[in-house]
Amino acid sequence: MSNTNITHVVVPGTFDPVTYGHLDVIARARRLFPQVTVAVAASVGKNGTGPVFSLDERVEMISAALADGSSSFEGIEVRPFSGLLMNFCHEIGASGVVKGLRAMTDFEYELQQADLNYRLSPGVESIFVMGSPEFGYVSSSIVRELARLGSDVSFLVPPVVAKRLKERFGAAC
Ligand code: PNS
Repeated sequence: MSNTNITHVVVPGTFDPVTYGHLDVIARARRLFPQVTVAVAASVGKNGTGPVFSLDERVEMISAALADGSSSFEGIEVRPFSGLLMNFCHEIGASGVVKGLRAMTDFEYELQQADLNYRLSPGVESIFVMGSPEFGYVSSSIVRELARLGSDVSFLVPPVVAKRLKERFGAAC
């Protein structure tokens, strides 16, 4: 563990696509730390399948959602990354990773990742924030499924994402 204060954190994820739940976590990270980088992983999804949206599309959607004029997102940078998250943190000089926890179901997965990241890089702190209960049930996979089935998802994702989903799946959003 390092004694230096943490000023720059990364909010990592696949963001396939970004949801209001993610934006809530990003805003919370920004309240806590002066410098926040949203790191969009190029990697394949948890179940071995590739993301629905390309890396460029995912970066574009988050950038557009953060540029909505809200002061909660001021000064946040969005960057793609591939390979190990810890290497990316070192590359950009970030010493913390902020993630959101929803239900207990998130906990085991996040604990495993935090433990592994600690082994790889003990100087980078894993920090967890509780997302707003309003978004407790929101996930990218739920959004993709609803959109595929033609449901309106505009209550779960920012307008830019709802539009992209409609183009991709013909969802009624
Ligand atoms: O939104 P997600 O899919 O829960 O995000 C997972 C992500 C991208 C944060 C995680 O898979 C990750 O850190 N990937 C980079 C590869 C890596 O560093 N793996 C070792 C840590 S588990």
